[in-house]
Amino acid sequence: MLLVSPHRTKSREYIMQPASTVQHKATHPDGLRPDEARRNILCLTSSPRRDTSYSSLVAMRVLRELRQVYPDATVTIRDLARNPLPHIDEDFVTATRSIAGARTDRQRAQVERSDALIDELFAADAIVIAASMINFGVPSTLKAWIDHVVCPGRTFRYTNTGSQGLLRGRRAILVLSRGGIYSGGPLRSFQHDESYLRSVLDFIGITDVQSIILEGMALGPEFAERAVDAAMRRAAAVAGVLAAA
Ligand SMILES: Cc1cc2nc3c(=O)[nH]c(=O)nc-3n(C[C@H](O)[C@H](O)[C@H](O)COP(=O)(O)O)c2cc1C
Repeated sequence: MLLVSPHRTKSREYIMQPASTVQHKATHPDGLRPDEARRNILCLTSSPRRDTSYSSLVAMRVLRELRQVYPDATVTIRDLARNPLPHIDEDFVTATRSIAGARTDRQRAQVERSDALIDELFAADAIVIAASMINFGVPSTLKAWIDHVVCPGRTFRYTNTGSQGLLRGRRAILVLSRGGIYSGGPLRSFQHDESYLRSVLDFIGITDVQSIILEGMALGPEFAERAVDAAMRRAAAVAGVLAAA
């Protein structure tokens, strides 16, 4: 598990520094007492563009805003691009989905990894997911994380009336960056990042989801700058909504 503290530099870039627990004593703007504050925030970043990523940049701003609201929060950042999870394979499926269960050391290790990721997710009150649009969907590193945490008996279960998500009462914020425009126009039906993530989160019980979307990032620097400015403003609004809920 990586605990890091993002610090803003003079430019729009953030750098990440190791930190165990990040504690800010800022006064909550809405007068929320610290004991009412949520304690655990999990942030997943997944851009393959690393330090030039817009989704990671805005996600760090969301974290900064959330710390204003929850000054005692513990923030865990899991960078899935820098520390990718393996793709699931036959051993993983045997270990997690068959009656035989884990039999070999490798299979046991795979179950342990999946369990640890699920525990980390359960420990979070708020989950921030930052993703680039890659070939109309999410980065494969984020998909690998999803494959590790969507697990019958742990994050969802089957009932007589259908499946039931087991991660109730949590809130998620999606920060999505796209080269093109998908909110309207000819590419509208090519949008498989937000709809997919909302479906997966809903399936495991997370229905309180807000999105911050940066579009047209490949359409030129002026366009991109405007999109970042709007996303930064929305980051503050989204954190405020989370605090008020
Ligand atoms: C390998 C690759 C595939 C991409 N595929 C798409 C795509 O299908 N649609 C799109 O609008 N933009 C696409 N882009 C552009 C990215 O979505 C855009 O650069 C976005 O800002 C990436 O998010 P980030 O800045 O957080 O990395 C792609 C970029 C890369 C590097």
